[in-house]
Amino acid sequence: MCGIVGLTGSNDTLNQLRTALAALEYRGYDSAGIAVVDRAKGRIIRHRSALRGAAIADLGSERMIWPGDVSAGIAHTRWATHGAPTHDNAHPHVDCRREVAIVHNGIIENHRELSTRLVAAGHVMSSETDSEVIAHLIEEALASGLSTRHSVRAAIAQLRGDFALSVLFLHDPELLIAARRTSPLIVGLTEHTAYLASDIAALLPITRELYALEDDEIVELRPGTILITDAGDQVITPRPLEVTWDVTAAQKDGYADFMSKEIFEQPRALRETLLGRFDGSLRPDFEELSIDATALALVNRVIYLACGSSYHAALSAALATEQFARIPASAEVASEFRYREAVLDQLTLVVVVSQSGETVDTLHALREAKRHGARVIALTNVVDSVMTREADGALYTHAGPEIGVASTKCHLAQIALLEAFALHLGWVRGEVEEELLREGAIHLLATPDLVERALGSAERFLDVGRRFHEVDDVYFLGRRVGYPIALEGALKLKELAYVRAEAYPAGEMKHGPISLIEPGVVVVVVATRTSLWEKVMANVEEMRARGATVVAVIEEGDHETAALVDATLEVPGTMEFCSPIVDVVPLQLFAYAVASARGNDVDRPRNLAKVVTVE
Ligand code: F6R
Repeated sequence: MCGIVGLTGSNDTLNQLRTALAALEYRGYDSAGIAVVDRAKGRIIRHRSALRGAAIADLGSERMIWPGDVSAGIAHTRWATHGAPTHDNAHPHVDCRREVAIVHNGIIENHRELSTRLVAAGHVMSSETDSEVIAHLIEEALASGLSTRHSVRAAIAQLRGDFALSVLFLHDPELLIAARRTSPLIVGLTEHTAYLASDIAALLPITRELYALEDDEIVELRPGTILITDAGDQVITPRPLEVTWDVTAAQKDGYADFMSKEIFEQPRALRETLLGRFDGSLRPDFEELSIDATALALVNRVIYLACGSSYHAALSAALATEQFARIPASAEVASEFRYREAVLDQLTLVVVVSQSGETVDTLHALREAKRHGARVIALTNVVDSVMTREADGALYTHAGPEIGVASTKCHLAQIALLEAFALHLGWVRGEVEEELLREGAIHLLATPDLVERALGSAERFLDVGRRFHEVDDVYFLGRRVGYPIALEGALKLKELAYVRAEAYPAGEMKHGPISLIEPGVVVVVVATRTSLWEKVMANVEEMRARGATVVAVIEEGDHETAALVDATLEVPGTMEFCSPIVDVVPLQLFAYAVASARGNDVDRPRNLAKVVTVE
């Protein structure tokens, strides 16, 4: 996730900006930049770096020449969402006259529309970002005679989407203006200096006099003072922020660890991933994909390739693809695919699914698919990762960086994007009726709210997990859409809690594994009201008859199922193809609770790496 900092009134502006950026490094970033006003020469000086892993340090290197007389500055760490992580796409961005510099977090949904209008009016864009339009909108408003504050207000009134932004003005070098909508932004004060940041962790080492900003409020910062106006342009009294956290707690937003922070970020990760994927008439919009609809319509088979949790997302995708696009689809473990002499050709579409875009097994599978002439799409969370560079087209989840080793928010975002893509394939192939498409889109777009609702029961899920923290053997069962959910639940329990956990398609138990069921064995079953609910419940009966303790993921208020099992994890119901997004949530928390109760480090489980770059 991008980070913003800004300050005015310090006699050590550049060092303070770099230190504050370094405090945001934990969030992950791919490029960074700073802009200040050089008062002696009367110009904005901006330096940016896309040096992988070292961009912040690079901003302090000798090759960056900074002015001596600086009063205010803004800085940014970028995690690419629109446009590759290059020098030119790094923030700050400037207007045509270089009189305004901006930094921005969030996504400007209507940036294409705004950019087209601005370019037609003579503005020149120098990046591929959605953010640059903001600098030009402010330039346009200033040129029409508006004040600095009213120019920012005029600009944000034209933005659709989420933002936290800060603006530096050449002609008012001690002024910074900042505004936000949904994306976080806070302000801090010391006697002579005013600060802003997107993350409390950047300001805590400097001051505890902190103030909150609400949606569409604008703050003007001058040395040692702030002035906040509301959406109606009325001056309001700043609202102090009570902060009891230290820096480490602040980095985790007050959560005990990154994993729980990321679990609770899932509604936002889903919202940002699904943003703009359907147009106003709820038709899929995959404009970002460089493979056009005609080419997609000709494809005669889809293979999803991935590892670990991404593979589980791929399994859900294959089911949705067959359902909506009526085309043969399968999901395969990338490390196996690579060696199995697969039969593919130019009409095969291969989608590699990888949070990092760097997993070596998936990368080799991608290369193998290309060698056979297949068209390859990379679906990742990291813009410009190796896979996206080698694939024919890229799709991005916008989950923000995932720091916990076990995938949570990226996994959910992958499923959501893959399900949207399956609807898209169905639409371009003419296989999905308009009504079903609408229904699917409506349900998919509702999943962020459903996941939020499910998270409202987090304490209950944790309680159930704690109850079972001493278990040694757990089976996870599900059928059809429930099977990938069961696989993911088992993987989470294995990797976090170090508990033996096996996932089976529920109907398969009687073909062997049922001989292992005896009193003391715990069976977790995905028993939401999908089309196979009755079959699943028949399998549950088989487990209970042999003494297993059954924990079931069920739909809210489903007393009938609740009466047949020993413990329940209740989630909101949804359309069947969306259920993997919602039903995985309690299983993440179940595994989290077992792992925590056993004293394990949930952010860094033993023997695991976040990105697996060895075969
Ligand atoms: C499990 C987990 C791993 C990854 C797998 C693939 O919680 O995080 O199983 O899903 O290593 O990683 P990516 O998606 O980066 O290719």
